[in-house]
Amino acid sequence: MTAEGAVFGARLSAGRRSAGLSQAELAERSGLSVRAISNLERGRTRWPHPDTVHRLAGALGLPAEARAEFGAAAGRRLGGAADGSAIAAPGDRLPLSLASEGRQVVPRQLPGPVRHFTGRQNELAALTGLLDPAGAGGPGAAVISALGGMAGVGKTALAVHWAHQVASQFPDGQLFVNLRGYDVGQPMPAGDALAGFLRALGVAGQDIPDGTDERAAAYRSLLAGRRVLVLLDNARDVAQVRPLLPGSPGCVTLVTSRDALGGLVAGDGAVRLEVDLLPLPEALGLLGSLIGSVVRDDHGAAVKLADQCGRLPLALRVAAEMVVARNGIALADLTAELADLKHRLDKLETGGDERTTVRTVFTWSYQDLDPAAARMFRLVGVHPGPDISAPAAASLAGLPVAQARRALGELTGAHLLAEHLPGRFSCHDLLRVYAAEQATALDSPAQRRAAEHRVLDHYLQTACAADRLLRPSRELIALPPPQPGTLPENPDGPDQAMAWFDAEHKVLLAATAHAAGSGFSSHAWQLPWVLATFFSLRGHYDDLADTQRTALAAAASLGDVAAQARAGDQIGFACLLRGQYQAAAAYFDRALGQFRQIGDQAGEASTCLNVSFLLERQGRHAEAVQQDERALSLFQAAGRLAGQALALNAAGWHLALLGDHEQARTRCQQALALQRELGDPLDEANTWDSLGYIHDRLGQHEQAAACYSEALDLLARSKERWRQATVLTHLGDTRHSSGDPQAAGHAWQQALAIFDDMGHPDAEAVRAKLAFRN
Ligand SMILES: Nc1ncnc2c1ncn2[C@@H]1O[C@H](COP(=O)(O)OP(=O)(O)OP(=O)(O)O)[C@@H](O)[C@H]1O
Ligand SMILES: [Mg+2]
Repeated sequence: MTAEGAVFGARLSAGRRSAGLSQAELAERSGLSVRAISNLERGRTRWPHPDTVHRLAGALGLPAEARAEFGAAAGRRLGGAADGSAIAAPGDRLPLSLASEGRQVVPRQLPGPVRHFTGRQNELAALTGLLDPAGAGGPGAAVISALGGMAGVGKTALAVHWAHQVASQFPDGQLFVNLRGYDVGQPMPAGDALAGFLRALGVAGQDIPDGTDERAAAYRSLLAGRRVLVLLDNARDVAQVRPLLPGSPGCVTLVTSRDALGGLVAGDGAVRLEVDLLPLPEALGLLGSLIGSVVRDDHGAAVKLADQCGRLPLALRVAAEMVVARNGIALADLTAELADLKHRLDKLETGGDERTTVRTVFTWSYQDLDPAAARMFRLVGVHPGPDISAPAAASLAGLPVAQARRALGELTGAHLLAEHLPGRFSCHDLLRVYAAEQATALDSPAQRRAAEHRVLDHYLQTACAADRLLRPSRELIALPPPQPGTLPENPDGPDQAMAWFDAEHKVLLAATAHAAGSGFSSHAWQLPWVLATFFSLRGHYDDLADTQRTALAAAASLGDVAAQARAGDQIGFACLLRGQYQAAAAYFDRALGQFRQIGDQAGEASTCLNVSFLLERQGRHAEAVQQDERALSLFQAAGRLAGQALALNAAGWHLALLGDHEQARTRCQQALALQRELGDPLDEANTWDSLGYIHDRLGQHEQAAACYSEALDLLARSKERWRQATVLTHLGDTRHSSGDPQAAGHAWQQALAIFDDMGHPDAEAVRAKLAFRN
């Protein structure tokens, strides 16, 4: 019997009794054998197949909502993988329709309203006119609008403003993604955007399918019958957009792109609206709302300024900030200055009048910056993107954080950067290109390289510190000291470490790619190494695999066998999590060979633990124990106590799965003895969780509960909330098995509060347990 099995078994038995069916009758109705049903009810089947769950739900005649909860009743355990991350078995994946039918998650992903939004009444009315006259939820074709137009003309601003206006017509939520079609680096792959949407719709990371097509299918089935507004912003081209179209009549999609999206208009019935430069009155209106009465006082100069900005909103905003900054100088004097500058640039530059117009405004603003802010702006042009925090900017420029903050503040004030999230700064790509050009012109190659090096060191060192907080007992890799002027951050505890990873997620991916592409080969394998725990804990398995592939190539280019072995081991682990067992085994084999070749016993042992995890997934528990024992002796030979403890806990777990509870307990107790010395609360909590499981299987529910309490005490200290919630779930399970629904409910409630607070999809399974408690 297993904890998850016990809970599901109890649900099944209660559901069967309330339907007035014997096991034989249920077997007949569901097409399953009596034995299968009996095993399920006794909790002997660890991961009921989704199809089995379907059949049983159908045979019991459960209504849609109860089906979802019934299906979600299978839980997950803690601490299986060698790195201690918690993962559900792939075979345990519920059909998405089941997993999400119960409580619909309503996504609200729109960015904040556009400040000082001005004009565009015709475009707004045209967009609203495209909605189904009977209301967005009425019958009729799916509505797709495509906003086209040049860079900085205001497509995104218009789309976001309109989306806020009509949001209330979409009670099932609003999805938003910035597809980064024109940002530095790669545009966002459609598969990544789909993963983000599926998460926002309540699908757990583990349940997100692998391929783009499968994700698109899951996404479409989740949106069927719902009224959701989907805003696909800054799309590169039709290929990027097409998999993201929901296709159901209640949903409305709005795409913004510089591309004409001809294929979308011809093939998908999209209606294209062109966003043009602001008409003069609207350009004056925007200037008026940004700089006030000056515009009315000297109408002629204001018209001239609007004209000098080419009536392009991006340029108008930059210029307006200049006017504000030069408070007290007559508008006519400022436009004369700008005209003069344009005249000079016209002589220097080629590329057409339009290009010089906008660049003149940028130059006007840039030349007025304090030297530190100007240098920061140029260096943002060499940063990997897509955005930057003040501490990272400090390292980039080699400045104290307070000075970096001041420079960023000045750049935001000048509208050369946008603080798009509190403390995070991004740069429009036209401005970024301009910044990079200025850097090339004014900073030497050595200076630019040093800035890149400092900022890569910043991410590497901070990620390393954050990783240690998440997994204190993880193997350390030797990092060279950071470049002078680098000021890595020091996250204070696991919560902050996780928050830092979450905030920097996209930047860390960009930094890894940047390192690989610009000859920082050590960073290109070290960064992925320190990101691996974060990716596995958060369920970002694609990122885990992709970055480790980058790492493998970088390690190979350096001829670094140890780094190749580590990367191969991690790729294997990512394959394993995805259910690609053959590929996983091949990667593990190669890694084992490489570790042996260089005599790295601890490395070999870590891979053995991953092999054991693979065997567990395949139900080969006896072989898993052999690998655990092998890992144990290798870790002993290498003198790695934390590794020994991991191996002992893994052996204990697998022995328990084999039903050898006495041996299992001995192994786990040996693990504990070591872990108490080592002081890694997460590892120790994992072992207590295994012990809880062993006692639960022996029917010793009180002892099981005591073990879970030990785990919870340790976790409270480490502030690792996800694990706390998971152990609370297990505590509830054992209370439930012991026939104490009230205590079970209490523990599950606490778990649910944490999962809900974190916005974690595991909340659904706990909610289902609570619904079926009695
Ligand atoms: N109607 C408007 N009122 C006020 N500000 C606007 C308006 N339109 C655009 N802006 C501002 O101008 C800048 C550029 O606009 P936006 O980012 O929407 O352009 P875009 O067309 O989406 O450009 P890109 O092609 O780069 O995505 C932003 O700072 C935006 O807030
Ligand atoms: Mg845009």
